[in-house]
Amino acid sequence: MGAEIAFRLNLVHGRCVGVRIPSEVDEKVLAELVPEERSFLSTLASGRHPSWVAGRLALREAFRDLGIEPGPILVTRRGAPALPCDLVGSISHKRTLAVGLAARRENGARIGVDLETRPPAFASAQEAQVHQDVRARVLTPDELARLERVPEEHRRRTVILHFSLKEALYKAIDPLVGRHVAFHEASMSPLPDGSASVVLALSENDGCFAVTAFWTEVEDHFLTTARVLRT
Ligand SMILES: CC(C)(COP(=O)(O)OP(=O)(O)OC[C@H]1O[C@@H](n2cnc3c(N)ncnc32)[C@H](O)[C@@H]1OP(=O)(O)O)[C@@H](O)C(=O)NCCC(=O)NCCS
Repeated sequence: MGAEIAFRLNLVHGRCVGVRIPSEVDEKVLAELVPEERSFLSTLASGRHPSWVAGRLALREAFRDLGIEPGPILVTRRGAPALPCDLVGSISHKRTLAVGLAARRENGARIGVDLETRPPAFASAQEAQVHQDVRARVLTPDELARLERVPEEHRRRTVILHFSLKEALYKAIDPLVGRHVAFHEASMSPLPDGSASVVLALSENDGCFAVTAFWTEVEDHFLTTARVLRT
């Protein structure tokens, strides 16, 4: 393979493969894409090429681990990976790492994955300000109240973990509701065992959903997944 596999994991919501994002997309890396993906890639700004390619390779590799050849993984109208209707999958990337989460579609459920760099416990004054902004934008009043009970040195990580869980949830629920879901429309409680309880407070009449979410840590990142089923 042209890009390096970082890890392969069996997670509750599917098979997850991590791929190191290549510094440049050379012929060897390009050869890993199918022709339709290479054509699509040429329409994207060159700065997006390494992460887009690594995400496709990670997701395809995760399907291959399940014994599935998914064909070209293009893009839905809303920006998600486009897949055959019996499959579900999700992609996330940070600076050096891309992940793909793959599963067979069961009962119409959708899945989402997110990767966030785990921040150090203590921050510079500038980082602390950014962190305050993220906290205010991402957390609901309930979550802010629970955060007050978290020791100071764990708070930055707790906020980023909430952020990541919400991004994973968004990727799973967006294909079902077809609209932007805001951060305050879900409240998360990550638990030490790697699960998270989720309470949805959707602002529109989207129907009822069962949500599960999990988190783990890999290579200095939070890796989170969500699964959403219309009930
Ligand atoms: C779409 C969004 C979730 C992407 O997350 P991000 O942290 O910017 O970037 P990530 O690397 O984690 O994920 C990017 C991938 O998400 C996927 N994606 C983009 N739009 C998507 C959508 N509407 N539905 C599902 N997946 C989507 C794509 O695969 C994309 O990678 P690619 O373009 O290389 O294929 C984010 O930009 C966003 O809009 N967030 C606000 C909404 C939100 O999180 N609400 C919380 C609800 S509780």
